[in-house]
Amino acid sequence: MYQVVVVALWAMLPAYLPNSAAVLGGGGKPIDGGRRLGQRRILGDGKTWRGTAVGTAAGAVLALALNLAQPTVAGMSSVDVPRFPPAAVLSLPFGAMLGDIVASFLKRRTGKERGAAFPLVDQLDFVVVALLLTFAGSPDWFLTHFTPPVLFVVVLTTPLIHVFSNVTAYVLDLKSEPW
Ligand code: CTP
Ligand code: MG
Repeated sequence: MYQVVVVALWAMLPAYLPNSAAVLGGGGKPIDGGRRLGQRRILGDGKTWRGTAVGTAAGAVLALALNLAQPTVAGMSSVDVPRFPPAAVLSLPFGAMLGDIVASFLKRRTGKERGAAFPLVDQLDFVVVALLLTFAGSPDWFLTHFTPPVLFVVVLTTPLIHVFSNVTAYVLDLKSEPW
């Protein structure tokens, strides 16, 4: 049980960091260039090129750092924490950013303004796309490490971690809404 939780958190860390990094590093030109689809913005000012690049880079650097630490951690803890193959180094953080962008697209189509809460979609959008993209890029690696119990823990704990980190960012005045 404890092994499953450790593997789940380890394997998802490169997908968890990008959202926070985008909040810190975001700004500048919006991806949609201000364009609209009907009445509403395609994505809105909350999705920028710089935020997406900074978020993806931060998650990739974290994955590489975890790869360096992996032999030591696996040896000391006897938990078989994974090493990220090159494709997963990119697909976990980029998938997370893409999921967040898809969610903003859906928010605008359903009439939600920038910053509006979209319960469950806000908490899981990035996980779903990070996992799908990683399965597409590294299927064998994905199936070896993201076993059904690991996936269960990911889906259960991610919303809690997401809520906690966003409330923290709100309290620290880094973010204007606590979600
Ligand atoms: N951010 C960014 N680029 C991204 C994702 C996030 O620049 N691809 C930055 C933006 O400054 C954004 C902040 O991180 O305002 C918070 O991200 P998020 O909560 O996802 O965006 P919202 O502003 O709430 O917009 P939306 O309603 O579209 O989710
Ligand atoms: Mg938001």
